[in-house]
Amino acid sequence: MSELNKIALKIISNGKGILAADESNGTMTKRLEAVNVKSTPENRLFFREILFSSDGMKDCIGGVILYDETINQISSTGKSIPNLISSSGAVPGIKVDTGAKDLANSPKEKVTEGLDGLRDRLKKYYDLGARFTKWRGVYSISENYPSKLAISSNAHALARYSALVQESGMVPIVEPEVLMDGNHSAEDCLIKTSEVIKKCFEELILHKVDLSGIILKPNMILPGSLSEDKISNEEVSIKTIECLKNSVPNEVPGIAFLSGGQSEIEATENLNLINKNNNTNFIMTYSYGRALQQSALQVWSKDTENTEVTQNTFNHRAKMCTLAAQGKWTRELENK
Ligand code: 13P
Repeated sequence: MSELNKIALKIISNGKGILAADESNGTMTKRLEAVNVKSTPENRLFFREILFSSDGMKDCIGGVILYDETINQISSTGKSIPNLISSSGAVPGIKVDTGAKDLANSPKEKVTEGLDGLRDRLKKYYDLGARFTKWRGVYSISENYPSKLAISSNAHALARYSALVQESGMVPIVEPEVLMDGNHSAEDCLIKTSEVIKKCFEELILHKVDLSGIILKPNMILPGSLSEDKISNEEVSIKTIECLKNSVPNEVPGIAFLSGGQSEIEATENLNLINKNNNTNFIMTYSYGRALQQSALQVWSKDTENTEVTQNTFNHRAKMCTLAAQGKWTRELENK
């Protein structure tokens, strides 16, 4: 077993999943202002440290994705944030892309940037304790999109990023996110997501990336948020498995889904059914941002000094997601 494969398995085995706490300062500001909390470096750390020191970390969270600001911060106990995370048994990770920018010659689409100087930044993050990384490519569906140009340029960037990350001794999370925005059907999402993922693996293979040392972070197969053709959770799980079975090479150890705007319960229920119906060898778990933090953030904003109630809320969510990652979640357990 390679060192990278061991790290990947440590993050996603036994029902453990990933806490995506890597919101950029811009995104975190939106999240905090939505609950009437001022977005300062201190407040961003305050909320995140409460999550990172909760009991749910030990039992449920195998990895935490951080943002550059957070990985450099010191917790109230004097420990660095990566140390705080490692001491709970989870692996510290870091978002290394610098964001999605307009794609030249297809300006309604995005290409993710961040390759320039990446090798040096990776060394710095490794020295700070990171052992895995994230890079997100983003695609939207409409009549002519995603274009071949967007599919190919984002796959190329994801592959170059992955090769550099593995060279630096870390596991790359490869995140091609096909957005839920729009009125497309689940079938459109299945077709486009499959095309996007297949192209990513074509490029990863070309760039000689060790597929046993990556984690794929895709969207689930869902109808667009404005679509009138809703499908059942069972159908979401079947289509999602079909997509991954046909587009992901067997060497990949695991898949950690993003929540992408689903509610907490929806993201949990869908993951649970994916695991119940999983007829692949892939570990299927979560790498949720909003679907792990939303309720905790709301509770915290009402009384920021009440750590216990915020942690209880987060612990419950993490526990439900970890049950779902094993196909053991039920509505009764959710409402207990
Ligand atoms: P969501 O689960 O909120 O989609 O966030 C996951 C993530 O890391 C997106 O890049």
